[in-house]
Amino acid sequence: MIKKCLFPVAGYGTRFLPATKAMPKEILPVLDKPLVQYGVEEAVEAGLKDICFVTGRGKRAIEDHFDVSYELEHQIEGTGKERMLDGIRNLISQCTFSYTRQINMRGLGDAILTGRTIVGDSPFAVVLADDLCFGETAGVLAQMVKLYNQFRCSIVAIEEVPHDQVSSYGVIDGEALSDRLIRVTDMVEKPSPEEAPSNLAIIGRYILTPDIFDIIENTEPGKNGEVQITDALLRQAKEGCVIAYKFEGRRFDCGSVSGFVDATNYCFEKYKAKG
Ligand code: UTP
Repeated sequence: MIKKCLFPVAGYGTRFLPATKAMPKEILPVLDKPLVQYGVEEAVEAGLKDICFVTGRGKRAIEDHFDVSYELEHQIEGTGKERMLDGIRNLISQCTFSYTRQINMRGLGDAILTGRTIVGDSPFAVVLADDLCFGETAGVLAQMVKLYNQFRCSIVAIEEVPHDQVSSYGVIDGEALSDRLIRVTDMVEKPSPEEAPSNLAIIGRYILTPDIFDIIENTEPGKNGEVQITDALLRQAKEGCVIAYKFEGRRFDCGSVSGFVDATNYCFEKYKAKG
C-alpha cells in the first residue's frame, strides 16, 4: 500500500520572478488556494496521508500553511470567516507532515534522493505542485495508485504536448500496452524537437519504487548539470519496468505565467458555474 507522497518544493521558481523572489511558487494561489494545497488534496484523495516535503531556503511559508495559525484563528473565531479555513483545517487533521531540506538545488533527481530519509523503503508518490491537475472522475494520483496496485512498478504520468514544446519536458518512447499505457523503453530529458523520441511528455506526477534511490545515487548530473530523475527512470526502465500513463483529466503548468493564468481562468469558470 502506498502511503507517502513526496513534494519536492526546493526549486527557485525562476520562471515566475519577481513573484517568487521572496515567496515560494508553491504558495501562489489559484483563486483562493495555494498550489501546494491542491497537490496535498489530490494526494489525500488517493489515500496518501503521509506528506513529505523536500524544502529549501525561503520556503518556510509552506510549513506555516500546514500548521495552526493561532493569532489569526483567534481573531476570526466565531465569525463567518472561520469557515474559510474549513478546507485546510480538515486537510491538516487528516495528514502527517514531514520536512527535510535540500541544501544545493542540484535538480529534481537530487531533491527526490534528499527525501529518502523521510520516505524510507516503500513505494511512494511524487507530486510537483506547480503542475496543477484535475482528474475527470478521479484525481490523477488516485488513477496512478490504482495502476501501481496492478503493475507494482514505477509509473509516470504523461501527456501529448505540441512538438515545439518537447524541450521543456522529459519525453518518453515505448511499447503500447493499451490506449493509455506504454511500457517505457526510452526517455530523454528536455530534447530538441529533432532529438525527441515522441511528443509524450512526463508531467509532475510519479509513483516510484524505492530502488530508485540507489539508482539516483549512481546517476551522474545530466542536462543543465542537474541530477535528472528522467535519467534514473530510464535505467529503471531498462533493468526492470516503468509504465507511462496517459492520465484522464487536465494539467496546467503553473510554473509558467501562461499556464498559471489558464489554470486560474479554468478554476474561475468552475467556481462561477457552482454559483
Ligand atoms: P522546476 O524546474 O519546474 O522548478 O522543477 P524550479 O526550478 O523551481 O522552477 P524554474 O524552472 O526555475 O522556474 C520541478 C520541481 O522540482 C523542484 C521544484 O521545486 C519543482 O517543484 N526542484 C527542482 C527541487 O525541489 N529541487 C531542485 O534542485 C530542482
